[in-house]
Amino acid sequence: EKGRVIFSGIQPTGIPHLGNYLGALREWVRIQNTASEQDKLLFSVVDMHAITVKQDSADLRRYRREMMASLLAVGLDPLKSLVFTQGKVHQHAELMWILSCTASMGYLSRMTQWKSKMGLGTDASPFESTADPKSREALKLGLFSYPVLQAADILLYGTTHVPVGEDQAQHLEFTRQLALGFNAAYGRTILTPPETILAPAKRVMSLTDPTKKMSKSDENPNSRILITDSKSDIEMKIMKKALTDSIEGVTYDRQARPGVSNLIDIMYYMDESVAASPEELAKDMANVSMRALKEKVAETVNRTLEPIRTRYNLIMKDEQRRPFLQDHNEVAASAAKSIAKKRLRNINSVIGM
Ligand code: ADP
Ligand code: NA
Repeated sequence: EKGRVIFSGIQPTGIPHLGNYLGALREWVRIQNTASEQDKLLFSVVDMHAITVKQDSADLRRYRREMMASLLAVGLDPLKSLVFTQGKVHQHAELMWILSCTASMGYLSRMTQWKSKMGLGTDASPFESTADPKSREALKLGLFSYPVLQAADILLYGTTHVPVGEDQAQHLEFTRQLALGFNAAYGRTILTPPETILAPAKRVMSLTDPTKKMSKSDENPNSRILITDSKSDIEMKIMKKALTDSIEGVTYDRQARPGVSNLIDIMYYMDESVAASPEELAKDMANVSMRALKEKVAETVNRTLEPIRTRYNLIMKDEQRRPFLQDHNEVAASAAKSIAKKRLRNINSVIGM
């Protein structure tokens, strides 16, 4: 039987937090560790996506190294998965151009990501003359066409499965429609419409405002736990900064008690052996104080992150002695490139290029 091709990407915009870990990275590692011999796995640090928003060049270089180190630290294994930076495989950009020639502007204008990144409402349009002319000038082509690059990332490898968080479902649907439209236009089944694999963990919420999702772009650094946070950072953020409520006892209700429920979810998804479900965990903890709950959550988070933090620090120390991440990236990128070249040759020959 033919194996699956699994591709996913993450932007180099800072060290991953618990949301990235539970919603994406840990799932990638699980997929890798249960994959069959025939499956092909590709995980990419998508730096070309990061520059859709202006980046400081020194920061971008550092973020890229930190993300590569993070991916290896959480357990991606270079012997099983190709872990590489997107910018090293220029075929992503080439396929993006080809796909741009069949991508619909109308469809792209309905996508929500460029609107939210620019702080515009969901009904904003890039065409309307009634739109604020300043924001029309400020909307860059790359930010607008970002989903086409994401589609190219996926379609370049004949990807059959894409593990992502639910916030990416809209972009995956765009990718599928683009593949089907391209195939129809050329009368050949050349691009593979991919399936989505959703992570089981619920959306991880901010510690300081549990009505919002935990995010790298939150201006309050205490709102998130990074996978490299020290034991004392973890304790400080959970014990002192995590917002709960004054209701006595522990119950699980994401609407009525978002803070407490988020802590229960974090504890459960970090170590699923603690209970059968978040609801069961809350029942086990029904009579403990808020302080005791927080101590347990901090202990579980620290226990789970400790080996990741240790590996991360080792990789970064190693990198000071010799450019391990750089070497690794070269090898993985060149393997990815040879798959990409073959597929692009097929695509180009169908088009007549
Ligand atoms: P951020 O929103 O912090 O900038 P990214 O957009 O880089 O994170 O997301 C990378 C991956 O992490 C995506 O697959 C996304 O679905 C997942 N993810 C991000 N934030 C969360 C969260 N709070 N809970 C669950 N998954 C998340
Ligand atoms: Na995001």
